[in-house]
Amino acid sequence: MATSVNHAVPAGFDELPVLDLRDPNFTNEGNRILAELRAKGAVCRVEPVGALGFLRWAECDGILRDFRTFSVEFEHSMPVPGAEEETKIDTLLREDPPKHTRVRALMQQAFTPDRVSAMESHTRDITRTLIDGIMAGGSECDFLYQFALPLPSTVMSGLLGVDSSMMETFARWANAMMGANTAHAIQDEAARQQRYQEIARDAKDMEAFLKERIDERRKSPQQDLITYLIHAAEAGDRLTDREALTLMKLCIIAGNDLTTQALALTLDCLLEHPDQMRLLANDLSAAANAFEESLRFNGPVVTLRRKALRDTEKAGVKGARGLHSRPDRQFGQPRRNGLRESRRFQHSPRHPAGSEL
Ligand code: HEM
Repeated sequence: MATSVNHAVPAGFDELPVLDLRDPNFTNEGNRILAELRAKGAVCRVEPVGALGFLRWAECDGILRDFRTFSVEFEHSMPVPGAEEETKIDTLLREDPPKHTRVRALMQQAFTPDRVSAMESHTRDITRTLIDGIMAGGSECDFLYQFALPLPSTVMSGLLGVDSSMMETFARWANAMMGANTAHAIQDEAARQQRYQEIARDAKDMEAFLKERIDERRKSPQQDLITYLIHAAEAGDRLTDREALTLMKLCIIAGNDLTTQALALTLDCLLEHPDQMRLLANDLSAAANAFEESLRFNGPVVTLRRKALRDTEKAGVKGARGLHSRPDRQFGQPRRNGLRESRRFQHSPRHPAGSEL
């Protein structure tokens, strides 16, 4: 798709309405901005990527399912100098079937819903402890630092079988791994180099830490995700060390950065819709729906990139190479009263692996 610079862009590309991912209003007003773009047509130009963006469910769904035409196997961002290998997350995320199918099947053995649900009471305990701490502090709290950051970090430490004192370090590592694009955009040369160094140090520390844990678990297996990943086997096949390591990194990144953002965005959404907040407070059985609806309404992942491997036509655009942006909803526009409605994630072959968690 259009992130591939060696492909010609479709005719009229430069005149398309622009979705600028750097727009500071995008976080809070993303739905409005996307609705305005959608009112102008099915496609847009996504900057600073210079890619074609599809705005409607039908095209996005078709593209995501058609992995033979639309591939994920390409460089999604410039590497970070000094940590080119350590910051590369290609296992699963940058693999098409059949490579993807093989790794996914092996990972699924380690990451079964049963094992995740076995963590439920542990997760509830962590949540209660955090909430008790907040309540003891009076009528105000810093939701991000007192809840949205520590909850997923602590859960992830438990899942990986490492001490919860690693929590802050995990959050910093996740932030570093997600920070390449922001670092590249720093204008000041000295500040940019400084940020590259910080990211490289964190990425190397993270890799060294995980390699040590892998060695330990080989000698002495535990009931944890690291052990399950390195022992997952199917038909004599196993994950390579590099694959297992990358999956662990992926879980730390997704488990910390994305989940933290999702929790914060959910609270923001509920604060904007007090009637839904009251509904939830009166009926906690709606919590799972509330979180899922909030992910649809304003989730932390806005774009999914794919590269067209051959000429194709989507939304009337020939030779479409582009980038999906958050599509309109097959199930209707996100609704302020959507909390009670359940619209489960579509389980395509690469549906978010952490959704059970
Ligand atoms: C609310 C938090 C999360 C969000 C919004 C999220 C979002 C996503 C999305 C959109 C994808 C698909 C990417 C693509 O198709 O290009 C994905 C994939 C993935 N996520 Fe998450 N994720 C979250 C939490 C987690 C957690 C907690 C974990 C692990 C513990 C995780 C592990 C993964 C893995 C391994 C994949 C690759 C799946 C595959 O390609 O088969 N995610 N995630």
